[in-house]
Formats: sequence, C-alpha cells, structure tokens
Amino acid sequence: MTIPLVDLHRQYEPLKTEIISGIEEVFESMHLFLGENVQALETEFAQFCGAKFGIGVSDGTAALHVILRAMGVGRGDEVITVSNTFIATAEAIALTGATPVFVDVDLGTYLMDVALVEKKITSRTKAILPVHLYGQTVDMDPLMAIASRHHLKVIEDACQAHGAEYCGRKAGSIGDAAAFSFYYSKNLGAYGEGGFITTNDPDLAKKMRMIRDHGSERRYYHDVIGFNSRLDEIQAVVLRAKLPHLAEWNAQRRNHAALYTQLLQNTPVITPAVRPENTPVYHLYVIRAPERDALQAYLKTKGIFTGIHYPVPIHLQEAFYPLKNDNVGDLHVTNQVTAEILSLPMFAELTDEEIETVANEIKNFYLEKQGNGVYVSSTQIGSPAK
Ligand SMILES: Cc1ncc(COP(=O)(O)O)c(C=O)c1O
Repeated sequence: MTIPLVDLHRQYEPLKTEIISGIEEVFESMHLFLGENVQALETEFAQFCGAKFGIGVSDGTAALHVILRAMGVGRGDEVITVSNTFIATAEAIALTGATPVFVDVDLGTYLMDVALVEKKITSRTKAILPVHLYGQTVDMDPLMAIASRHHLKVIEDACQAHGAEYCGRKAGSIGDAAAFSFYYSKNLGAYGEGGFITTNDPDLAKKMRMIRDHGSERRYYHDVIGFNSRLDEIQAVVLRAKLPHLAEWNAQRRNHAALYTQLLQNTPVITPAVRPENTPVYHLYVIRAPERDALQAYLKTKGIFTGIHYPVPIHLQEAFYPLKNDNVGDLHVTNQVTAEILSLPMFAELTDEEIETVANEIKNFYLEKQGNGVYVSSTQIGSPAK
C-alpha cells in the first residue's frame, strides 16, 4: 500500500462533472479574467472568512505583496514575522524593499511567540506579519493589542489556514488584511495557481483591488503603480465548486489529527499542541521526531510519503544571507524545530486504516531501533506547548 502526503485524485473524482462543465462555460464565454466567477468567489470566500471584502489574486505571494504595497510598506521599513514559514512570507516583504525581522516560535505550536514581538519593534517597524502555519492561528488578541499600542498594521499570512478559527473568529477576519494561497495542495486548492486577500477596511480594499490590476480601476488609466496579479476564471470555477465542501473537509482533517494524536501517545514522537482558543484546520499534521531523517527514510521504504515543512528556516537561506548573523542567536527554537519536524500524510479523504498504518510503522521504527521493545520517552526531545 502507498500512502501519499496528499492525494488530489480522491478529491477530484466526485467534483469532476461540475468542474468540467463550469470550465466549458468559461471557454464558451471567453471571459477569462476577473469575470463573474471571480466576482462571485470574492463574495463567497470573504463571507466564509467573516470578512467584509475579498479580492482574488494570482497566488498567495502576490496577495502578501499587494497588501504590503497598499499599506505603503517599502524601502527602509521593517516587518516583524517568523523564520519558520514558507519563503514567500519573507520574500513578499523583501519585494517591497523592506526588511523582514524574525521572532522565534513557540516550541509546542511552532507559531510566532507573541511574547517576543514587542522587543523587536523599532522606529522603522511598519507592520507585523503573523503566519497561521500548518492551519493553526497565532495568538491574535495580544498581538493586535501590541500592534495597536505601537500603531502598526497586522497582516495575517493565512495561506495555510482556510477556515481556521481563533476564539470563534475565522483566520482572515482578525488583522488589518489577510493573504490566502490556493496552491493546489492547500485545504482549498486551485488546479493551477490562485490567491486571495480579505480585509474589513474599504479604503485598503479599493487600493488593493487597483494594485492587483496594474494600479487601475478603468482600463488603461493607472492611478498608482501596481502589477499584474489577477485571478483567472478557470481557477475561480474550481474554487467555487470546492468551497461548499471546505468546512466538512476541515472537520475530516481534524478527525484525522485526533486519531494520529491518540495513536502516537506514549511513543518517542511529539504530536502538535493546540491552544485551547483555537480550532485548527490541519493543512499539515506536523510531529517532532527523534532521528527524523532516518524515520522519514524508513517510512518511505514502507510506501508512506512524508514532508518537511520546512527544512531550512528563512534566516539560514542563501537568499536572505545578509540577515543571517543578526538573527541566528535568538531563533534557537526555530532552529531546533527545523531539525525535528515531520509532516505526516494529511488530506480530507485519508482513511482511518491509512492513519493506523502510518502510526504502526512509526512505532515499528522506534521498536526496531531500540531492539528491546521499549520506547524512549518523548520528553527527551523537548517540552510540550506553553
Ligand atoms: C505560509 C505561506 N505563505 C505564503 C505562501 C505563498 O503562496 P503561493 O504559493 O500561492 O504564492 C504559501 C504557499 O505555499 C505559504 O504556505
């Protein structure tokens, strides 16, 4: 049996007829960009997130870039974020000419440690960019309070958190604006590229709408410098067919996570911590594992495919080399987590049997390693969440 990290076919089969007929209609109309499907998606997904305004864009990186540009972030400014994230978070900041400033993450949730943010604020700080990594929201209330005290904007990177909740509020409705990615493997994924911005601020929404289309509201009249990050109609058809199922898919992911967590108790691995105010959507189910690389290789021999999100934190990436020396010292949790994390197969259509197989093989790996049938306690590789 092969158990993939993500299986797109299982999701596509039941939606196939609806998606194909919607795409045919787009081809009949030949209205290919920012048409009726994009407009409808903008209303529907904003509503899903509990936000007033929604703007479809070409991808999640563009979503972040458009937001930062619309907020006036640029050369000489600093934006506080984390290093344990996909490169796009910091890349979008760098693309504006600003500098990402990294704070460390919490050892249990792997998310921004909000208690460390205020120390990083300088006269150059313009915004804070929390990342709701793996589908769990950052502790937003204290973060919003810090931002308000220092007159800073907050941009949620919700690219992995479609439908995740914090104190009953959805990701994308809490900060000044939020970026979503519809990359194919996300909880809501396009069949190509796609992205989305949410906000409750009408002026910001208007500006972002212009920036994503060459700074223009009226064709060939350009009021601000923008760029092309339009969402196309074909992707909007796919996303609209999937959106009504998203809440159920997220609930299935939560069930899978609960089963993994239960089955992996009393083994050497550490399962992800969830803050009590959070309802995560498990874009990824990430454990911390001793001998992580050997475990990953072993699982592969058993047909079980896993991932590492992400193997190199941003402050150690060659592209961000100039920042390297300034940041290594106080990012020790990020550095530790990077060496231990492993993403197990996770998608809505995963079966209990597959989860049991993965958990059993993880147990077998450690039993074989030790040869005596007794596990080493998981406390040996770190403490649980705060
Ligand atoms: C946390 C995070 N931020 C930003 C992005 C960028 O999104 P995209 O790949 O759609 O540009 C991603 C997507 O992978 C992501 O996971």
